[in-house]
Amino acid sequence: MATERTFSIIKPDATRRNLTGKINAKFEEAGLRIVAQKRIRLSRAQAEGFYAVHKSRPFFNDLCSFMTSGPVVVQVLEGENAIARNREIMGATNPANAAPGTIRKEFAESIEANSVHGSDAPETAREEIAYFFSGIEIVG
Ligand code: TYD
Repeated sequence: MATERTFSIIKPDATRRNLTGKINAKFEEAGLRIVAQKRIRLSRAQAEGFYAVHKSRPFFNDLCSFMTSGPVVVQVLEGENAIARNREIMGATNPANAAPGTIRKEFAESIEANSVHGSDAPETAREEIAYFFSGIEIVG
């Protein structure tokens, strides 16, 4: 498997509790390299656009409110099999079901405030990276 890139967000529940460094350490310990990173505050329109695939889901409005409730750190992670690797490190969406040692098991507060986002496939990774970063901001 060749080196690939995935898109990651450290969510507002984690930035509020000053966990950016601890979460980044998990990525780096797992062999992922942070090749782009910025701390931003999402607008409502940006959050709704990012989660457009979930528009008809009952949790959509609350999710967008949560994602705009504080700063987030958007990132590009690079490494062997980075998309699947990152999903493993993150753990299950609901922290109650997340495996020991995963970010969500250790840090997430709830299924909504679950500390991190990570792309689920190559096509979504490409789209999500392009949603937040231009080429010159990514330095491998
Ligand atoms: P999803 O893409 O299913 O999970 P993941 O982030 O693990 O890829 O859902 C996107 C986000 O939506 C999820 O991280 C948190 C939120 N969410 C809820 O608030 N309630 C829910 O019941 C689900 C399924 C997701």
